[in-house]
Amino acid sequence: MTSPTPIRFEMPDLDAMATATGRVAVIVPPEGKLDPGARRANRLTRGALERLVESDRFAKVKPGQVVSLAWPAGMAAEALDVLVLPRRADALTARKGGAALAKLAGGKPLLLMAGGQVRAEQLALGIALRAYDFNAHKSKPEDEAAEAADASVTIAHTKAEEVAAAYAPLAGLAEGVHMTRDLVNEPANVLTTTEFANRLKEMEALGLEVEVLEEDELAKLGMRTLLSVGQGSDSPSKVVVMHWKGGDKDAAPLALVGKGVVFDTGGISLKPAAGMEDMTMDMGGAGVVAGTMRALALRKAKANVVGLVGLVENMPSGRATRPGDVVKSMKGDTVEIINTDAEGRLVLCDVMWYAQERFKPAGMIDLATLTGAIIIGLGHENAGVFSNDDTLCNAFLKSAGEEGEGAWRMPLGQAYDDMLKSRIADMKNVGGRPAGSITAAQFLARFVQEGTPWIHLDIAGVASVTAETDMAPKGATGWGVLALNRLVDRLAE
Ligand code: BES
Ligand code: MN
Ligand code: ZN
Repeated sequence: MTSPTPIRFEMPDLDAMATATGRVAVIVPPEGKLDPGARRANRLTRGALERLVESDRFAKVKPGQVVSLAWPAGMAAEALDVLVLPRRADALTARKGGAALAKLAGGKPLLLMAGGQVRAEQLALGIALRAYDFNAHKSKPEDEAAEAADASVTIAHTKAEEVAAAYAPLAGLAEGVHMTRDLVNEPANVLTTTEFANRLKEMEALGLEVEVLEEDELAKLGMRTLLSVGQGSDSPSKVVVMHWKGGDKDAAPLALVGKGVVFDTGGISLKPAAGMEDMTMDMGGAGVVAGTMRALALRKAKANVVGLVGLVENMPSGRATRPGDVVKSMKGDTVEIINTDAEGRLVLCDVMWYAQERFKPAGMIDLATLTGAIIIGLGHENAGVFSNDDTLCNAFLKSAGEEGEGAWRMPLGQAYDDMLKSRIADMKNVGGRPAGSITAAQFLARFVQEGTPWIHLDIAGVASVTAETDMAPKGATGWGVLALNRLVDRLAE
């Protein structure tokens, strides 16, 4: 796994600023007042920092952004990075500032003179989240210099010990996000259903209970719609259950359910060739569930949460499900499979049913890269949020907002559900082109039991992106780990 760069917290040593290699960063508030670290940088550079602060350029720099002075005179560092940040910056702006510094550092050593900055632990989290690079399959490092140097991050702060303590649980969060990104970025010949299950099983070392259900057990349980998706593949279908018991012994858990299609060819309803390689990310929902469980375990969350993922590969073959086949779900309802490319819902419906039957959860949240239609609707800025429960839904939306993860509620309704009517079975697996994301959610809603508060998150647009974001380079984002982690705290309150 790509482990987050370790961050050292130290008391400020102004003398170290002149000799530090890599990059040195100081923080200047928008009003331009220099703290001791910035004053020392100014003196070393013979007034360059003051000239910057008095320039027109400085006035245009927004909080959380950085201006770099390259090869500063009087310093060994290759750059002096000036982060503009109010002393009492809010958490997300501080995080963004840390991320901007990490992006510039690009793996080279970074010494951040944070003075007495409040929320310095959020600066650290921003650094940890942005300092991510999926290089598992590069035989040569892209940037030899960066690889050769020991990628070290030091944050100098007047309350170093306090900041280190505040950062400890956030380091677990960063590790959860990194795990999700690794899983989502990994190609499908490496991350097979078996390899995915093995990586989850390893999390037992963190105190999670991890159970892997194999095909024969799934057949016994009656998970026929899930198995119908995987039956064309040589990789065996699996369901993995990860249980974190950090709360009261008899408190019902929150259930997180993830779509884990390790590769989605579309099956017999084969996808076009162009862009099919992106379907390595079709296990994004399962990836977020895994990363969230890791974060909860690492920070020893005082809550009961069970994560379940359905791991399958959607392949065409002589054994694959055909369009027109009728399959009976674990619930007992029959599904006419019109399009084998609408496979995610067939995986989720059985795992959701199983989660409710076995765990009687206090709430259930499923995550899935479910529809291309949600990308048409919301782009890459927001995940689609569907829910049968305003209280749970609002708690989630608030959590996502506080973590800067875009989420937008979408409607559900009887007329959409009617679009799933089948001539020969209880329902079809597709509702037609209009409102494709909503009819997909309506399909899932049919497998939510009376009285279970439920949220469906369609993350097809946000799980992996082609342009970098504030917090992540191109590729997997880890969207959802932070929001779900915060929601767990909020619900346990
Ligand atoms: N995995 C796809 C959805 C998807 C598309 C995820 C683009 C990420 C990026 C899903 O299984 C799928 O193929 N959905 C179909 C549904 C249709 C056949 C009703 C779609 O969106 O076209
Ligand atoms: Mn599909
Ligand atoms: Zn899919």
